[in-house]
Amino acid sequence: MRYVVGCDHAGLPLKAPLIAELEMRGHEVHDIGTDSPESVDYPLFAAVAAAAVRDGRADRGLLICGTGLGMALTANRFERVRAVTVSEPFSARMARAHNDANVLCMGARVVGPGLALEILGAWLDQEFEGGRHQARVDMVMRPEGGLER
Ligand code: RB5
Repeated sequence: MRYVVGCDHAGLPLKAPLIAELEMRGHEVHDIGTDSPESVDYPLFAAVAAAAVRDGRADRGLLICGTGLGMALTANRFERVRAVTVSEPFSARMARAHNDANVLCMGARVVGPGLALEILGAWLDQEFEGGRHQARVDMVMRPEGGLER
């Protein structure tokens, strides 16, 4: 699969080990930075990655900041993006199995490299279950959940 990977200064410590794991498992990685510990604005990196997923230039995204929260908030503003912030493997599995999430966000101030690799592994090993979950994901992707107001 083609992964677009991005981080801000706070997420930088996790980027290299996670990219190494993706490549070790045969995934193609497009690293959009940042590559230095100098302070940068996470929305800029989330937007570049999310646009790649939206446009089909990447199949999935991996975004890392201090908490994983700002990255997900930004990425979810883009069509076709389902970004989740995860800090343990069970949620990573369920985000794939039930939500068909296509962007994984993590916080390098929340999880260390060992746990981050476990989370990524759980995410990569789990397929979307489809079925009743597909109908719910379709609802999620409609503006405002498809609800009348
Ligand atoms: C940067 O200090 C921090 O705000 C950012 O990495 C992220 O945690 C935002 O959600």
